[in-house]
Amino acid sequence: MQNIIKGFSRLDKEEKIDRITSMFTADAAKSTALLNSYIHHDAAVQKVHDGFAENTLSNYFLPYGIAPNVMVNGRLYAVPMVIEESSVVAAASKAAAFWAERGGFKARVDGMEKKGQIHLYYRGDKSVFVEFFESNREALLNAARPITEKMTARGGGISSFMLKDLTHVEDDYFQVDISAITMDSMGANFINSTLECIAGEMKRLFKEQEVSGELEVIMCILSNYTPACVAHVEVEARVEDMAYAGMDGKTFAERFVRAVKMAELCVERAVTHNKGIMNGVDAVVLATGNDFRAVEACAHAYAAREGRYSSLSHAYIKEGVFCFWMDIPLALGTVGGLTRLHPLAGLSMDIMGHPSASELMMITAAVGLAQNFGAVSSLVTSGIQRGHMKMHLNNILLSLGANDDQITAAKEFFKDRTVSHSAVAEFLERNK
Ligand code: MEV
Repeated sequence: MQNIIKGFSRLDKEEKIDRITSMFTADAAKSTALLNSYIHHDAAVQKVHDGFAENTLSNYFLPYGIAPNVMVNGRLYAVPMVIEESSVVAAASKAAAFWAERGGFKARVDGMEKKGQIHLYYRGDKSVFVEFFESNREALLNAARPITEKMTARGGGISSFMLKDLTHVEDDYFQVDISAITMDSMGANFINSTLECIAGEMKRLFKEQEVSGELEVIMCILSNYTPACVAHVEVEARVEDMAYAGMDGKTFAERFVRAVKMAELCVERAVTHNKGIMNGVDAVVLATGNDFRAVEACAHAYAAREGRYSSLSHAYIKEGVFCFWMDIPLALGTVGGLTRLHPLAGLSMDIMGHPSASELMMITAAVGLAQNFGAVSSLVTSGIQRGHMKMHLNNILLSLGANDDQITAAKEFFKDRTVSHSAVAEFLERNK
């Protein structure tokens, strides 16, 4: 039987490192040195990072890059991207520059409403419960006023409040459903606190008013499905201006539209196609300290909103004009959470000129569409591996400890050859 580690969270960082490296790694001294080498030299900064999560041993670095030339509604942004996958930032940058020369991305936000629910069971006469809810509607909303007041003053707050009867899907199941406008914050804490406050008051009033039946609140939680918090982004150009990678504009545009159609029609292709979009979206979401799990979960649910998973982006040619567009739900914030706490998330906001949440939604959607354009453009012209492998070669060379001369020689040698780990290792062996 393995020993359960008790009281781990109460150990100090040094003790945690010691415990883990000695119990689980082959070389405790080496592992400890590695973890320590990733700890920030400035203790105050490290303290901020330690505070983000629990049982922190060290930091895990990811590249912080920039896609310059992202033109959205006529304004040029340099957009920070945090991502570990090679080629992503290069592809987004190339696509953004391509479109900046053709008028850039036109974007808008179609709603910023988010939702949350009190999930509950009411066992009794339904009409009694509906009457209880309706007659206490104001009292319930008033109970949450200490939380909602400031948001309302900023122009947001609760935009709808209703009881949903779900007894057709599950006996006695009801939801108190709220919609909220959370302005520049992502809104998770606002919605969850509001729901918990309302649920508490609901239970209190139910008891106080001696309502017949039984009320059981199961949980209060925001929904990460935000189909009413959506950014729309599009680009367009005449097909004759779309020459790409040696292909004439008309051929390229037609092949591109067909590739997007395949993602609309085929789930296997749609998932990969949308993954390409999320390469760009997640990278911006991470760079700005937003919640990429929430954005990912929602984007894919949205992609299946018509009952079948499909492409998030669409393309067509009409009267000689190529149009490429996407609607994507993005619950992002520019205040609160990590957005202000993480020093680099703060810098990202600074680099982008301190965007509002809606502006950040449009920028992020534009990077997603740029990323998608970059990937699909490669796929319908040279194929994806050429660009990928160029970057991959670099990573292999670095991992094998190649020096600058060997790197230059290898890049020349592998220009027209297939890159693999063993081929690069053999090349380095021959060119010591
Ligand atoms: C790789 O990370 C993303 C792509 O597979 C996206 C796509 O196929 O459209 C290149």
